[in-house]
Amino acid sequence: MRAPAFDPTAEYHLNELRIAQDASAPGHLLPPIPATCKAVLDIGCGAGQTLIASSLSTGVLACGVDPDARALSLGRSLTDRVNFASATGEYLPFSDGSFDMVFSRVALPYMDIPAALAEISRVLRPGGHLWLSLHPPAFAFRTMGHAIRAGSLRGVVFPVYTLVNALSLHLANRQLLWPFGRRRYESVQTAAGMNRALQRARFKDIRIQRNRFFVASARRT
Ligand SMILES: C[S@@+](CC[C@H](N)C(=O)[O-])C[C@H]1O[C@@H](n2cnc3c(N)ncnc32)[C@H](O)[C@@H]1O
Repeated sequence: MRAPAFDPTAEYHLNELRIAQDASAPGHLLPPIPATCKAVLDIGCGAGQTLIASSLSTGVLACGVDPDARALSLGRSLTDRVNFASATGEYLPFSDGSFDMVFSRVALPYMDIPAALAEISRVLRPGGHLWLSLHPPAFAFRTMGHAIRAGSLRGVVFPVYTLVNALSLHLANRQLLWPFGRRRYESVQTAAGMNRALQRARFKDIRIQRNRFFVASARRT
């Protein structure tokens, strides 16, 4: 399995759990999980912070996958309500149509998006719900600005690579691996690129919101 692109610490996951449990926190963003959903999957779940804060009722199967073994073991120490598995979004260890809802909170930008969407489409039942939070191009421009001010060439090249991936998704439904060092994907997304990628992966009722957060939701055809 590829190493995770983004390598957050336990402190990051615990802080995100605090934010997820505090509706007044500025970064608070939880997926709206319809009450009819009986099986829910979080991809790139970290320590399961989003599932934990979603307080699903006992009859709901809650699964979370992440390639980061340390995040999963932290998650297992926090809750026994979530079924954690070590996996990437590009290769999901579930059979077809297993879930009523799949979500991924700030983790899709670290995946090969067309491959991950194809897998999500496969494991969702027809009519199932998808919810994704994404990174807008402004995220790359901000990182680039910090790097320029810090005089870091690599710091400039990396956000350019994530912008190239936005274009590549938009034009060719493809993602390029970071060509230097550790094999990894990272991208920022455009609304139009995500719209096309979701249509190609057999999603309908696509809604893209660009306000405080960049969120896409859709239903499996
Ligand atoms: C920014 S953290 C988000 C964690 C959590 N979803 C949240 O909202 O706080 C990104 C997560 O994506 C995971 N990740 C990185 N590459 C991945 C991949 N290819 N498939 C699934 N998860 C991945 C990382 O290990 C990390 O836990």
